[in-house]
Amino acid sequence: MSPKNLLISGGAGFIGSHLVRHMVHRYPHYTIWNLDKLTYAGNLENLRDVEPMPNYRFVKGDILDRDSLQALFDQQPFDGIIHLAAESHVDRSILGPLAFVETNVTGTVNLLEAARRQWDGHFADKRFYHISTDEVYGSLGDTGFFTEQTPYDPRSPYSASKAASDHFVSAWHHTFGLPVVISNCSNNYGPFQFPEKLIPLMIHHILTDQPLPVYGDGQNTRDWLWVVEHAAAIDLIYHQGRTGETYNIGGNNEWKNIDLVRLLCEVMDGLLGRSPGTSARLIHFVRDRPGHDRRYAIDATKLEKELGWKPCMSMKEGLEQTARWYLDNSEWLEHVTSGAYRTYYDQQYRGR
Ligand code: NAD
Ligand code: TYD
Repeated sequence: MSPKNLLISGGAGFIGSHLVRHMVHRYPHYTIWNLDKLTYAGNLENLRDVEPMPNYRFVKGDILDRDSLQALFDQQPFDGIIHLAAESHVDRSILGPLAFVETNVTGTVNLLEAARRQWDGHFADKRFYHISTDEVYGSLGDTGFFTEQTPYDPRSPYSASKAASDHFVSAWHHTFGLPVVISNCSNNYGPFQFPEKLIPLMIHHILTDQPLPVYGDGQNTRDWLWVVEHAAAIDLIYHQGRTGETYNIGGNNEWKNIDLVRLLCEVMDGLLGRSPGTSARLIHFVRDRPGHDRRYAIDATKLEKELGWKPCMSMKEGLEQTARWYLDNSEWLEHVTSGAYRTYYDQQYRGR
């Protein structure tokens, strides 16, 4: 296999760090470049074990800074780009939508343009892969699944910005011939997730004996995917997905929020040696998220049929591994929840 330079944007974030780790180990003859601004969500502590690997490079950079992006692309040819850098949290997009438009939309277009200029019509063996979300499809009722044909119907500033960036990626394919591929994935969970998202926030609160804030009636439903399995799916789609196509990725693992939080409470009680019901006593229903999507569910048949991918982690096992990781990495948790996190948290939950 020929050596390749692969650029991963957002590689210091949650999914990005798992993907970087996966690629660095699986493809020792590739050089994996991690381009990340290190926002509140990006953290080089997520990659300590990867740093000594000879085929890993980190570049601190902002996809909104066109000059630096151009300088990087002038200096280094890339065979492929997997683009994950984004503002990723729905609640933050409600508090401050503009950063989502800037990073997710303008930042994506900046990266598309940098790739187009560098490749200059020589697209053989090149690939621009955009990592997107199932939230672009909107909200489901009690039945049905999102397929690749489901019309886009984003409802939050986050999902609107991801839908827009997907459209720009497709437009660069149709207009300029850029060899792109897109995947739309359901909710990920696992180690290194920033504790503003449901599962690590609940783990953090159980550990610190704070209320567990369940939005609305707790009946909103998400499909959950073990992040390590998402990284494997990205690898497969990057190498074998068809150019110009979209692939849905899901865990086939739907949970109502309240049921998931109750299961997590059970897991935490077990790990902490507490009597059953201790953590669940912290559950607290709070005012709903504005525009809260009711249900997401993914039909990932295309990925399974075309590329043979299938998730297999069970929720109980995945939650146990996740919770154990947060217990074993209390310094990480402490570090990421100090400083600016507090300000966000107070804005988000005060008076709820
Ligand atoms: P994250 O918030 O944990 O990480 C985002 C990373 O992008 C961080 O390292 C951050 O520093 C970096 N970044 C942000 N702005 C940047 C900029 N201007 N320039 C360079 N780097 C910048 O996000 P995540 O949960 O790992 O999600 C990664 C991608 O996957 C996102 O595009 C997200 O939309 C998508 N996605 C996430 C999920 C999920 O459940 N988390 C599901 C489907 C799709
Ligand atoms: P989240 O992890 O923010 O992911 P997304 O909004 O992208 O699906 O939230 C997952 C679900 O959990 C969602 O229905 C909102 C809900 N939720 C709560 O009930 N309480 C919380 O404190 C958070 C962060 C989320």
